[in-house]
Parts: sequence; structure tokens; C-alpha cells
Amino acid sequence: MNIQVVQNYEQLSRIAAFMIATQVISKPNSIIGTATGYTALGVYSSLVEHYESGDADFSKVQIFNLDEYWGLDKDHVQSHYNFIKANIVDQINIPIDSFNIPNGAAVDVFTECKRFEKSIDKAGGIDMQLLGLGRNGHIGFNEPSDYFSPYTYLVELSDTTREANSHFFRNINEIPREAISMGIGTIMRARKILLVASGIEKASAVRQMIAKKVTPDCPASILQFHPDVTILIDEAAASLL
Ligand code: GLP
Repeated sequence: MNIQVVQNYEQLSRIAAFMIATQVISKPNSIIGTATGYTALGVYSSLVEHYESGDADFSKVQIFNLDEYWGLDKDHVQSHYNFIKANIVDQINIPIDSFNIPNGAAVDVFTECKRFEKSIDKAGGIDMQLLGLGRNGHIGFNEPSDYFSPYTYLVELSDTTREANSHFFRNINEIPREAISMGIGTIMRARKILLVASGIEKASAVRQMIAKKVTPDCPASILQFHPDVTILIDEAAASLL
């Protein structure tokens, strides 16, 4: 693991965006895995600056988002589709057809999980996957569990995760109880991984991820086994290391 501690959220956002922009500059048809959440927002606004300055061209890039709430139509204001569309896809020159995400309103969830997983394979696999970190050590929506899921699947969200994400909703009852998420295996097949974590509330999960044993109890700990992972954390998130 390549662990980089930076000063704060702003610096973390700029450096993560720089790494993604470098990936896109060196391989214009990169397949980029995106993440939702507050931490990723700063990364996306810095990435838009790389586009606006003319340094990075996204016209050949494809995006695969990690997860989507099950039961939310893509047009729902809090869908991950909308989050990624508004915060990155609409701000850069990526064709909308190159933006892939599980369909939270699909009729058959199992067929939809298979379709999404296959579409990643068909694109040639993910070149660089951006990850945030849940307070309970989740990545994507892979919650603490007794096994590592190999493929995209339907996940039951924990109360901790639903509470942590409640600031995006009017109240906690509006948050779906399930989601479709890339599995841990799907994430581990990405050729490069960039995980960002900021703030004291992530410090314990960061410690579990980096400095403790690999266990599905802390899904992010599996990243210790990935051959090309960068962990970019600010001083607050690193404070328990
Ligand atoms: C959600 C997403 C995760 C993300 C996490 C952290 O649960 N599914 O991919 O890592 O939020 O979000 P935040 O950055 O808002 O703490």
C-alpha cells in the first residue's frame, strides 16, 4: 500500500484529482470507477478544473460508478446516478452514454447485477477505481460481513451507513435499505485503486484498514492485498495510525 498523508481535505481533493487527470492524460480511453459521498465531491470539483484548463480530455473515457440505491429510479434527486451526473459527468466532456451505473429500478435485480458486472468486463476492466471509506470500513456499499463478495450484488445497508448518508436525504426513513454494489472482487480487479478519506470520523476505519488484519469485518482491509493501491488521507483521518 502506498500511504500518503496530506494536510487537509482541500489538499487531498487536489492531489486525488491530479492522479485521476494523470491517468486520463496517459491513457485517454481510461475506464474510471467513481464513488459517491462527500469526500469524492472535492475530488470531482478539482478534476473539473483539469478539464476546464484544457489539460485533461474526457471524450474517450468511460465511467463505472460503484453502486446505486436499490429502489431509486435514476431520476430520483438522491440517486447515485444523479450525484455522479451532476457533479462530474455534466461538468466535463464525457458522453452520457459512457457513464455506467447499476439501475436501481431494474425489474430483476439479479439480472441487473450480472449485466453491470459483464459491462465492466466488456469495457476491458477498470483502469483506476476511486474509493471513499465508510466509517465502518465499507467500500462501495460492501458492508462489514463474514465474507468478501466476489461480484456485483444486492446489499443490505447497515444502520450506521444509512445514518452517515442521511445528510443527503430529508430524513433517515427516505434512505433505501438496500443497494446494488460492485463486490469486493469487482473492486479488487481494478488495475489501480485510489482511496480517499478525510476527517477524524474516519480515523478508526483507516487504522483498521491499514494497520490490522485483513478481515471482511473491515471490508477495506482487503486493499492490503491489492498490488497497486494509493491511500490518500488527511492528518485527521491518519490521527490513529
Ligand atoms: C457511501 C458510498 C461509499 C462512500 C461512503 C463515504 O456509503 N457508497 O462509496 O465511500 O459513502 O462517504 P463520505 O465521503 O460522505 O463519508
